Amino acid sequence: MERVILDVDTGLDDAVALFLAAGLDTLHIEALIATNGNVGLEKTLENTLNIAETAGLECHVYKGAEKPLVREPVAAGDFHGKSGLDGPNFPPRQRQTVQEESGIDAMIRLLHTHPGEITIISVGPLTDLALAMQKDSEVVQLAKQIIIMGGSFSAGNVTALAEFNIYADPEAAQVVFSSGAKLVLFPLDCTRQVTLSPSRLEGYHTIKTNSAQVFAACMDTYQANYERQKQGWPQMHDPLCVAYLADPAKVQTEYRKVWVVTDRGPSYGRTVKEETKENDGVHIATSIDIPWFWSLVDSAFAVLP
Ligand code: BDR
Ligand code: CA
Repeated sequence: MERVILDVDTGLDDAVALFLAAGLDTLHIEALIATNGNVGLEKTLENTLNIAETAGLECHVYKGAEKPLVREPVAAGDFHGKSGLDGPNFPPRQRQTVQEESGIDAMIRLLHTHPGEITIISVGPLTDLALAMQKDSEVVQLAKQIIIMGGSFSAGNVTALAEFNIYADPEAAQVVFSSGAKLVLFPLDCTRQVTLSPSRLEGYHTIKTNSAQVFAACMDTYQANYERQKQGWPQMHDPLCVAYLADPAKVQTEYRKVWVVTDRGPSYGRTVKEETKENDGVHIATSIDIPWFWSLVDSAFAVLP
């Protein structure tokens, strides 16, 4: 059983990551932390609570950072809608509420409780992780590994060169990439290869569980937003990080040192990789077994409520 903390800025593809994690019986979710990102914190928190409740998750949900370390907040409403999760309607929640303790303190506490056992999956800006590392330097060694969706080594998706999660908090990303923690990175170069298809979306609409209906409604919005922006079919960024934990052998990686451009200018938030012979690199995903990924998603929806 893999212990995991998910740090999310829920978001339509973050919701898929949450459903996938909830449906995998090999994962034990220790905590969900909602952070500022695709939309503001109040909305990402609300979205995270709603998806957790829909998926029948009983883990605690915490509030992460309200704003980036240094820069002004940016949002990604073009892809996720005004609420960050446009599409599904949720009934009033019966169980899930936000915890008093901050997400950063919860992360530190849980890592100390289970040293070397917890994987952190971060699929939003890296603000919470950077804050946790700055508050307690032991975080770096205590985490088993950190799996990140972010960055691009080709074109960006928010500026010509930068990917959203890194651009939304480049200074935090640089703290994490230079920390020495064991990192696995899913950049756009890998996640762009995995897209939804019309027949898949149609298929998910026929599954009459709440989780599948919410997922299908999310994907309708995601698809419409991609189409409006002439971006093809929606890319499955965030759930790939969860899939990796289910079976790392299904993912091809390269080992490179990664750093982030933090000088303000056209390259702000760009990720750069270079060869390294030291132990200071990041395992960068280059491709994933795509049919296997979708079979994992299907098996999750077969067990979710
Ligand atoms: C990333 O940005 C967000 O909008 C998505 O949820 C994903 O985490 C892709 O660049
Ligand atoms: Ca995200």
